[in-house]
Amino acid sequence: MGLLIMQPFSIGIDMIEGVTREPARHNVRRASDMRGYYRDEDALERLISERNDPLHYETFEAPLPEESGHLLFCVSRIQPGAVGDECFMTKGHYHAIAHTAEVHLCLTGRGCMMMKTSDGRCASEMMTPGRVVYVPPYWAHRSINTGREPLSMFCVWPADAGHNYGDIAREGFPKRVLLRNGELVVQ
Ligand code: NI
Repeated sequence: MGLLIMQPFSIGIDMIEGVTREPARHNVRRASDMRGYYRDEDALERLISERNDPLHYETFEAPLPEESGHLLFCVSRIQPGAVGDECFMTKGHYHAIAHTAEVHLCLTGRGCMMMKTSDGRCASEMMTPGRVVYVPPYWAHRSINTGREPLSMFCVWPADAGHNYGDIAREGFPKRVLLRNGELVVQ
């Protein structure tokens, strides 16, 4: 079965702000969406109540058909900050179709991509502007903002890959990235 012929298009990305210039599907995660992901649950609750449930990360996604053959892409931006001493991060996910890869080009900020496989392998790659991280098939991936500016990246993946948040939420990532007295600690 073929795909509908679609009109080509282009969009702009603000490389300073790390957002799309044209309107896009805007998904927002606030601190209250991150319950269960950080080690210090009390610190997360304090953040939610004392700082009015602050913005955590957001994606600006081009609306495209989620069909094999297409590629999805978005700009993802993670705010700087910490929950207790743990750097702000995304939930992380495997793809529903696990044997699909993803590419991330860092636009602004500083951080790392934490990755793991279901058989226990773990890897991380630094993210700085202009650096590309390739997430191969089968690797769960989470981005972590280790800097003082928003960490933003341009991401591309197969449109039918889907998201599997459940498995990684149960397994957790084996390593966490902490900021202690201004020093990054991975443990
Ligand atoms: Ni992904």
